[in-house]
This record gives sequence, C-alpha cells and structure tokens, in this order.
Amino acid sequence: MATMSATTATPSKDLASIEKRVTALLSKMTLAEKVGQMSQRDGNDGFAPDYLVDALRAGRVGSVINAVDVDVINELQRIAIEESRLGIPLLIGRDVIHGFKTIMPIPLGQAASWNVDVVRDGASIAAREAAANGINWTFAPMIDITRDPRWGRIAESLGEDPFLASKLAVAMVQGFQGDDLADDSTIAATAKHFAGYGASESGKDYNTTNIPENELRNVHLQTFNAAVDAGVATLMTSFSDLDGIPATASQFLLQQVLRDEWQFDGVVVSDWDSIRQLSIHGLTENDRESAFEAVTAGVNMEMHGDAYRKHLEDLVNEGHVPLARVDEMVASILRTKFRLGLFESPYVDTSAIVNGNDALAVAKRAALESVVLLKNDAAVLPLSADTINSIAVIGPLADAPYEQLGTWTFDGDPALSVTGLQAIIDFVGDGVNVTYERAMETSRSRDTATFHDAVEKARDADVAVLFLGEEAILSGEAHSRANIDLPGAQAELVRQVRATGTPVIAVIMAGRPLTLLNILDDVDAILYAWHPGTMGGPAIADLLFGVESPSGKLPVSFPRLVGQVPIYYAHKNTGKPPTPDTVVEFDDIDTRAPQTSFGMTAYHLDAGYKPLFEFGYGLSYTEFTYENIRVDKGEIGLGDTVTISAKLTNIGKIKGVEIAQLYIRDLVGNVTRPVKELRGFKRVRLDPGQTATIDFQLHTDDLAFYGRNMQLMTEPGKFHAWIGGSSETDLRTEFRIVDQD
Ligand code: NOJ
Repeated sequence: MATMSATTATPSKDLASIEKRVTALLSKMTLAEKVGQMSQRDGNDGFAPDYLVDALRAGRVGSVINAVDVDVINELQRIAIEESRLGIPLLIGRDVIHGFKTIMPIPLGQAASWNVDVVRDGASIAAREAAANGINWTFAPMIDITRDPRWGRIAESLGEDPFLASKLAVAMVQGFQGDDLADDSTIAATAKHFAGYGASESGKDYNTTNIPENELRNVHLQTFNAAVDAGVATLMTSFSDLDGIPATASQFLLQQVLRDEWQFDGVVVSDWDSIRQLSIHGLTENDRESAFEAVTAGVNMEMHGDAYRKHLEDLVNEGHVPLARVDEMVASILRTKFRLGLFESPYVDTSAIVNGNDALAVAKRAALESVVLLKNDAAVLPLSADTINSIAVIGPLADAPYEQLGTWTFDGDPALSVTGLQAIIDFVGDGVNVTYERAMETSRSRDTATFHDAVEKARDADVAVLFLGEEAILSGEAHSRANIDLPGAQAELVRQVRATGTPVIAVIMAGRPLTLLNILDDVDAILYAWHPGTMGGPAIADLLFGVESPSGKLPVSFPRLVGQVPIYYAHKNTGKPPTPDTVVEFDDIDTRAPQTSFGMTAYHLDAGYKPLFEFGYGLSYTEFTYENIRVDKGEIGLGDTVTISAKLTNIGKIKGVEIAQLYIRDLVGNVTRPVKELRGFKRVRLDPGQTATIDFQLHTDDLAFYGRNMQLMTEPGKFHAWIGGSSETDLRTEFRIVDQD
C-alpha cells in the first residue's frame, strides 16, 4: 500500500495505456537516462550509499539489488522519484527463492509434492512477505532442468522432468505474481537461468554446457516456454557457455527463441556480472565488446557489472549499436515497471501488519507433502506414541534450525524454525522419554570417538531416529560435490547404531539426491526430507507418528553410484537396450570370457542400468494398486483427444494420498524419442478399501515434440501409455494416431 502517491492511477492491466505511457516516457529520456534504466546497482543492507544516491539523482539507475531494509528502500524510491529529472521508480530485486522470512522446503523438495497448489501458495507467501519489505522483483523460480545431483543448484531446481517442472514453474510464477502484478502483495518473478545451466558438464557449477538444439528444445526450454506463456515478467540469462556461445550473448536464445518465437516483451536481466564475464569466457576482448554482444543479443539490464554503464553510450554515439535497440531494451523495463504499478504505488506502508500464521501453516503443509518415504521395512513406521516408551534422537541435523532451511535463504529467519528434535518432544509429551545426542559437530565430521554416547542412547531406546544429511552450505550455487554419499562419518554412525539392534529410522535432510547404498541395509526406514524449511520439524513429527501418511514422490532419480550420473527415466532406448536378462552380475563375469558385443547392452558392469530409486517413486503407510488400464479409443486423428484410465485402489489399512502418474512413449519418430515421458499426474486421497477411476485426457498436441526441422509437431503412429505410481510402472496400454489425409 502506498503512503504517498506519485501520479494518478492507471490500471496495470490496461495494456494499450501502458504502451502509450512507455512511448511518452521514452521520448523524454536522454541516452544517459536510458542506459541508467539498463543498470542494476548494488544496494546496501543498512543505508543508502553515496554512490547510489548520486547515481539515483542523475537518473542512472534502473534497479537496485540487495537492499533489504524497508526504510532504506522507501528512501531509495523517494530519491529516484522526487530527486531525479524523470522520477522513474526502481525495480528492487532480491533472491527470494523458497521463502522470505518463512522458508518453504527447497524447490527440489517442493517438487516432490507434485502439488501445484502447495507450490503456488508457498510462492505467494514469499511474495507477500518480500513485498511488505519493499522488494518488487524476485530472481525465482529457477527452472533449469537438471539430471545431475552433483550440481549444487539441483536444490534450487524442480527436478529432472520438463513436464513436472513446467507445471510447477507456472505455479511458482502465479504464486509470486498473482492475478495482478500491481497488487501490493505480488512481485515480479524471474525464470532463470536461460538456458541450459542445469546441464553443466560433470555437475560442476558454471561449467560449459553442450546441448544439441533438439534436446535443448525438447527438454531444457520447455519450462521457460511454459513460464513465458504464464506471463513471467522477467528472465535471467545463464552464466554458462552453450555450444560455444555464453548464454548472455546468445542471439539464438534471447532474440530468436525468446522474442521472435515466444513473443516475450518483458525484461531479460544478466546474471551477476555475466556481461563482463563474456571476455573471461574468451568470447570478447574487453567490456566494451561484451556490452555490444549482450545488448545485441537482447539483455535489457546488467546485474552488478558496469559494462553497459561505461560503454553503451559510446557504442550508440559511434553508431555500433542503433539507438532503436536501446529504446527497445528500455521500453521493456518501463513496461515492467508500469505493470508492477510502481508509478502509482512505489512505497511500502511500514505500518501495515503482515500476518504470519497462515505462512507457517503453508510452510508445514509444503514440508509434509515434500517428504518422500524411500524405505519402510516391516512397517516400522509410523511409530505409535502409545506403544513406545523411549526414543533416541541422534544426528547433526536433528536440532539445526539454520541448516534445515537449506540453500538461498538470505532473509530466512532461523528463529522461526521448529527442529525435528523440538517437534518430537512436543509431539510425544511427557509419556515418552526422548534422549538426544548430536554425535557429530557437522555432517562432515570424521571423528567417530564421539559416537559412544549416541550408541548408548540408541541401545537404551525403543527406536533410534537419526537426522542425517548435508548442511545447507553443501548445496546451492558454487557448491557442487563429486562424491554424493552422506558426508563425514555418518555411514559409520548408522552402522554403530544399527549394531545395537534398536530399530533405526533415518530422516535425511539434503539439498540433492544422495547415494544411499552404503546405509540402505542398515536402516529400517528412510524419510527423505530434503531441506524442509521453517516447519520441517512438525511436518516430520506428523509423518513419524502417522498423523499423515507420506505422499511425496521423487522429482529426480536417485543413482546407486555417482558414476551412473546423468541417470534419468526419460532416456533414449539406444540400439542395445538392457533388460534383466542381459545384465550379468559383476561377480559372475567370467574372467576369461572373450570380449564381444554380441548380446551386450547399455549398462554398467558394476551398477546395472537402474537407479536406486526411480523418478516418481515414493512409498506410503498404506498400499495402492493399479489395474484395468484402458483407452477410450484405440485410434484417434490429429486434433483429437484420447482418454486413458485405470483403477486405483487403496488396499491398505489407513487412508492416504497417491500421486498417480501417466507416462507415454512415442514408438517411432523422425528423431528418436525417450522410452517414457510423463504426461499427467493427479493427487488422489483414498480411504482404506476405496477405489477410484483415474483418467487422463491427452490431446494430440500434448504428444508433440521438436523433430528434425526443429518445428513442434505431432506425428501419427503408435503410442504406449502407462499409469502407475512411479516411472517404473508396467501397467500399459496403447493407441494410435492415424493420419486422416
Ligand atoms: C548469481 C546467481 O546465479 C543468480 O541465480 C542470482 O539470482 C544472482 N547471483 C543474484 O544473487
């Protein structure tokens, strides 16, 4: 809400009037002011630094990043509006990635909920809290498809699958932006990092990517296309080099695909200093050339660097960059400011109260739905507070309010966190004796001498709940790992606790899929909680004690060994696809057998061809069965719809939620197609014994892909379709698209 009003209000959705205002304002601007709008400058948390104030007065700043004090932000806006010649308000940018004060699970965890409502609500709470602080632009969602758990930023991603990630990306954009960007509680979203960042070679952050155009279009661009269609206000370029052209200089990405094909008219911001980095990549010789490449490709605003500030005016004055190009770039920035309603409502009313109760409820729901039950031998879970007398809570992440928040939580408030230990104590009350041993200083500690007390406590308890995983800082930007086992001596801790004979429950908090083979047989159950955010503890307690049954499903494959990476369900068939019959166990390989390719298939001698846990996998405390898969028509024409259905039954003893998944395979294409592709999912809540018919409608457009000529097309031919509880479902039917010409 505005405390001061700058101009008379214009409805932010009146596009024609916005365009008129953009043109009118642009016509009054000097070249220096235009370049100013294209510059994002660093703020300072506690005060408005002199360099910034001077630049604001001169109309040389379009946006400020990392100013977080609301009074300072109001003051920056006031200077821009009242003390600069044209009074253009500022975009105030901040990384509000999975919450502002109240932290939701990391995005990868949210993706495990497969619930667009939960994801939308989380982003909407984040937007509301950030907007109340003066922020009007977030650098989220990160929608890079990644199939590499070594990459630290997998934590920020929505997983390996373009279909699931697109649905969730749209939900996040809707959550941040709401129905009206000009609303006081909404902020502009950024789809990042355009494009290909998630395919960094060897999972090393910032590394080169090499993605053929066909794969780029069929996999990596899908989420961005969906976000643009959903009206995302801005995009951020990727740091990475894509097939020899760093994304920040890619005319193919920024002009051909984004503007020409997708008709995007919002803002493209560089990543932090990524324009100047063009010369470090070796694409340009100096910052001036870098500015030329970036503006020519279509980067509207430079984050942090000064290549535009120092060189763009000269490049225009000397005729290298047409003024019209700068006008185009600036028009998008002004348009976005008008859409945000900043000219009408630039200030934050600091007396307005932001009610946080629903924020905690949304954070708890998101955490509950993001946890994936990977293993539950002999139905050891849920625990019953009535039959258990004592619980040993062990591990470096049991009582770690900051760590459970995960990566990218600049403004998150650890004081709001409820930890697993606290929540278990609160849940069981006085009737159950809860003992606690941290056992390791951090998840990386190697000292096993401290395990003695933990082992004793486990021996004395009815059950041991081990909170394992990675601290927040082990994932996220620039935090990639080559070994993705549980770090430090955690596996040894598990072994020693296991040796007591007390049942062992592992609750794993991590920013990525970890390789769990070395603890799998030593635990009875695994709840994979990612970094679950502010309300992680209460959510985990509810799941441990069966208040709710786990419903999360993996949004990414879990490898057995890191050497299998990249491993993902939607792989190509190859000419030599493996089957259980073609795999020879490592120990059974004849030492003197002749080397031959006959009968040999695509698998690793020492890992087979399957992940440890596949995409879409996740157990429940109840059991679901799928049967009777059907298609309503065996043949459809182009433009028609086929309905695929199956019967889903809860055959267990308690109610639960199942995420039913539809996969398809296009058997023959003018380019080869993946062996399975997700094309639908539904959350279904069923009572014990209850049956539901799950149906999915597929239009032939839903089966389109980019073929040899890079055009989106659906080809007639035969399709397989599966419905089930994970990507390894074998409940299959088929249909055919016939060419009616
Ligand atoms: C670099 C990161 O790659 C990007 O995602 C982030 O938004 C910016 N820094 C700003 O912090």
